[in-house]
Amino acid sequence: MKLRQFIVTGFALFAGMSLSWGQSGNMILVNTDHPVAEVQPTMWGVFFEDINLGADGGIYAEMVKNRSFEFYKPMMGWKVLGKPLTEGDFLVLNRQQTNTANPRFLHITLHNNKKGTIGLNNEGFRGMGIKNNLGYDFSVMYRQSSPGVKMYIELVNEKGENVGSTSIATTGTGDEWKKISASFTSSATVPKASMNIWFEGDGTLDIDMVSLFPQDTWKKRPGGMRADMIQMLADMKPGFIRFPGGCIVEGYDLSQRYQWKKTIGPVEERQLIVNRWNFEFAHRPTPDYFQTFGLGFFEYFQLAEDIGAEPLPILNAGMACQFNSAELVPLNQLDPYIQDALDLIEFANGDPASRWGKVRTDMGHPAPFNLKMMGVGNENWGPQYLERLKIFTKAIKEKYPNIKLINSSGTDPNGERFDYLNGELRKMHADIIDEHYYRRPEWFLQNASRYDNYDRNGSKVFAGEYAAQSDKTVSIDNKNNWQTAIAEAAFMTGMERNADVVCMASYAPLFANVDGWQWTPDMIWVDNLRVYGTPNYYVQKLFSLNKGTNVVPLLENNKPLEGQDSLYASATIDKNSNELIVKLVNVSGKVQTKDIQVAGVKKLSEEAKLIVLKADQLDDVNSFSQPGKVMPNEQVLKLKGKKISLALTPYSFTIIRVKMS
Ligand code: AHR
Repeated sequence: MKLRQFIVTGFALFAGMSLSWGQSGNMILVNTDHPVAEVQPTMWGVFFEDINLGADGGIYAEMVKNRSFEFYKPMMGWKVLGKPLTEGDFLVLNRQQTNTANPRFLHITLHNNKKGTIGLNNEGFRGMGIKNNLGYDFSVMYRQSSPGVKMYIELVNEKGENVGSTSIATTGTGDEWKKISASFTSSATVPKASMNIWFEGDGTLDIDMVSLFPQDTWKKRPGGMRADMIQMLADMKPGFIRFPGGCIVEGYDLSQRYQWKKTIGPVEERQLIVNRWNFEFAHRPTPDYFQTFGLGFFEYFQLAEDIGAEPLPILNAGMACQFNSAELVPLNQLDPYIQDALDLIEFANGDPASRWGKVRTDMGHPAPFNLKMMGVGNENWGPQYLERLKIFTKAIKEKYPNIKLINSSGTDPNGERFDYLNGELRKMHADIIDEHYYRRPEWFLQNASRYDNYDRNGSKVFAGEYAAQSDKTVSIDNKNNWQTAIAEAAFMTGMERNADVVCMASYAPLFANVDGWQWTPDMIWVDNLRVYGTPNYYVQKLFSLNKGTNVVPLLENNKPLEGQDSLYASATIDKNSNELIVKLVNVSGKVQTKDIQVAGVKKLSEEAKLIVLKADQLDDVNSFSQPGKVMPNEQVLKLKGKKISLALTPYSFTIIRVKMS
């Protein structure tokens, strides 16, 4: 149904109601018994990419930076402590011929050393955030020439004072690598600690995969994820999680593309590559940014399952980032790429007896992950993309006709590239088209009606990456201020109203480390110990938690509210809880009084839930010093009859939830 029809239908419904009121300027009409679209359970989700120290140094809770000496500079993050007796006591060896995935290790020669004379220090990712009285798990892979080397591990604060320690004694000699672990408890909270390892003994010692994890990981999984960051996602109850990005899927060149098969299995066999955000922005260089893939596709699927979100992997379409090298795989050499896509479906859904289903089972998950959709390409464009996409689509649909495919419409929501791709993809009957918009807040307000005129029967839309930019795209001055968040809220009412077209949406990027970001704005900010949600986070969370199951018409003067009097609104009902959910965004600086007349119900409960998100100033932001400056406030709203009278605060996002009978 097109917008015109929608309005007329809405009008007809109201005209048919036995109500004796005419519609005044302040009267909003909501009709609950004529739902016009289903809201997909996937509607509001999250986009995850390893950008801004999102994975390594972020949700992946490993505290040792460059644990396997594979960074371009093998000793980056490490310092030798004490004075080596001879040149060559610390050597980086490369066993490329026998181990391509993890070639380097550190070869240390000891000369009857006593504790405290020779050692190594690891600085962590912008320091290590240590919590008082928390358990930590240290582990290392080693082999040695003389038995009985002892390692003393200590966490130290900025002054070098010990805040937790343990020791381990190695055993045996020979060429075989062994793993040894020890756990200990810290004695202080230190935001930027580091770790010393002192060696005692004689002979040679090889070490690799030096690791330290806190024990309070998400679901207490050893080697797992940072629980506080994941909790922020779980709290949103996202409908899906898109991973692993973003441009990281494409890579600067094809050698740096994301290859899921290299991110599964034992962590020491996962081949590290540089993170493209290491060098993408000359103004925000991050030379210590690499992808260890300790967090890989198995963990992403598991995370999706943990937080009740549909997994949405995005795969490389045989094209490197078109802003970078723009390398293409020749059409007749796409097979390995397509095979990766087919194998991923088997990895996620296959029987444990199948080749890739067995790999999943061996990793501890015999049950399928129920993958239902997959993206082919991130921000790819041009006929080159379409040529490749067609080959992928044919192969995937032939084997897995029920898997929905997400296709790229490029980098921008309009312009020649978008128009071309959008047109062609619709002719190809694409399942879902991925649109991205990084635009000024005004754009979001002006485009709240963007989807009103989209074809109701054609391809669906996934707003796969969007965020209002207070300055401009990739500017370091972008802020997660209230002006951007309220503009997104206004726009999102337009997505919700058009839920028959827009089936999924996700803000991007998701996480940023205050000491290691490349891109702003971002939804959630963290440091080594803390995390806070931006106003944009609360907008996303409120939409997700107050989704409803079906869109119902909300009209003022027989039109949807999409900017009249600076007001934006949408309404849904939740068929499971039998509630009406109305969302109103007032982007003006004045109080606006409105009456909402509800039709299609016998009664409304006398008490509604009123949730208001607002700020005093449009440039208000949350921060570590004021994490709750812009936060939702919940109250009870008394109702009389089927009318909801509201005084909408200046610059506010208001949600009303009320039981219907
Ligand atoms: O979200 C940051 C980046 O923006 C993504 O990696 C990319 O897809 C887009 O250009």
